[in-house]
Amino acid sequence: MEKNDLMEKIISLCKRRGFVFPGSEIYGGLANSWDYGPLGHLLKQNIKKAWWKFFVQERADMVPMDTAIIMNPRVWEASGHLQNFSDELTECKKCHHRFRADHLLEASRAEPGYDKESVPEKITDVPCPDCGGELMNAKQFNLMFKTFIGVTEDTSNVAYLRPETAGGMFINFKNIQQVTRRRLPFGIAQIGKNFRNEITPGNFIFRTREFEIGEFEYFIKPDAWEATFEMWLGEIKRWWQDVMQINMDNLVWHEIPEGERAHYSKRTVDIEYKYPFGVKELHGIAYRTDFDMKRHQEVSGQDLQYTDPETNEKYLPHVIEPTFGIDRMMLVMLLEAYHEEQAPTSVEGETDLRVVMRFPKHLAPIQVAVLPLSKKEELSAVAKPLAQELRKYLSVDYDETQAIGKRYRRQDEIGTPYCVTVDFDSLEDKKVTVRDRDTMQQERVSIEEVKEYLLNKFNT
Ligand code: GAP
Repeated sequence: MEKNDLMEKIISLCKRRGFVFPGSEIYGGLANSWDYGPLGHLLKQNIKKAWWKFFVQERADMVPMDTAIIMNPRVWEASGHLQNFSDELTECKKCHHRFRADHLLEASRAEPGYDKESVPEKITDVPCPDCGGELMNAKQFNLMFKTFIGVTEDTSNVAYLRPETAGGMFINFKNIQQVTRRRLPFGIAQIGKNFRNEITPGNFIFRTREFEIGEFEYFIKPDAWEATFEMWLGEIKRWWQDVMQINMDNLVWHEIPEGERAHYSKRTVDIEYKYPFGVKELHGIAYRTDFDMKRHQEVSGQDLQYTDPETNEKYLPHVIEPTFGIDRMMLVMLLEAYHEEQAPTSVEGETDLRVVMRFPKHLAPIQVAVLPLSKKEELSAVAKPLAQELRKYLSVDYDETQAIGKRYRRQDEIGTPYCVTVDFDSLEDKKVTVRDRDTMQQERVSIEEVKEYLLNKFNT
């Protein structure tokens, strides 16, 4: 399959089956905004739940929090976002389309025929990718979304939607440390929405202006940073391998060299993914020194130091920050899960194209589909109460329309790991057929035991 075909197939499946819809569609849309439908919501929720369980719930050294989206603008003055959170914007003199200068330079340097002599130094050496026209000199464009608090729209009321969740956790370090009486090292974690006025959003849910991040600030003694960084790199590998169960060959561990890192970071690794549209960032981990704590202490005038209970030494904690784009993780799960294969139909000797989303079972939006063989009353009298009982523990779909083969294919296409079929034999032998999404093997299981049977499969 062509790589770009894969993106198109995924976008189309997402819309058709209710994972992701184009935003504001009945009003002609809003470019690069997306709404998560029933299945998209469930998949994203399952990714967030798994992330939370792995990085927060199962660890003794993590505490959760949920901070405001709109904060005192001085938070962003301290973090440097108001001054520096910008991209270089260029515009074509002819067609007036706008682009991120760094993306265009990067793309033109990656051209197959490129020779070192003709490497473009400046953005004005690069032709407009849309019409070939001349591009203007780049200028800085701040990505913060501005708004106003209260009724008057003047500069004293300006506020910003947060561009990351980190700020809320830094400014609450002292609160959290005091109420939980934690000793270093410990982390504060949260998942939440963020807003960036991106110049060139695109590639489906890869880059949008509104997106979710799961991240944590892990506060440490200054001399512990190297070992702690390695520990978190190991945990991140375990996350991708054991929990998200992706093909690890699709990840690229990009050690950001000195000079390209943010000035305050002593080590940053971008975890990149081989998307159909190129190798690009999936998420990252950075050692941020005590930069953030120092800046918030300076700008707020508050003492944010930690007192070591053993030595009584006072110092600002240093921070390791693993950060994960939830929407990018969702895109990766969709890409990893998508499979097409020729599979046998109910007609002997015939095959058809089976599209199957091979999500890890614990992430599948629908875990079990209950499918009575027909709409007949005597079958639904068994199937409906069974579905209702299973709903107490699992995410269940109930479908009684169309031929059973078609219904299996519909469930395969949304990645449902198990289909439970109630047929006329069920009325006699009190058993149902359980079909496995991946092997397509079918097994007869007694109605009395089917709940336990399925729960064991999901290990819940
Ligand atoms: N506190 C660190 C921080 O915010 P970042 O690399 O700017 O780091 C974190 O953003 C993650 O958020 C990225 O690694 C990416 O997964 C995701 N992300 C960033 N911008 C995004 C956008 N416009 N759309 C979707 N996800 C985005």
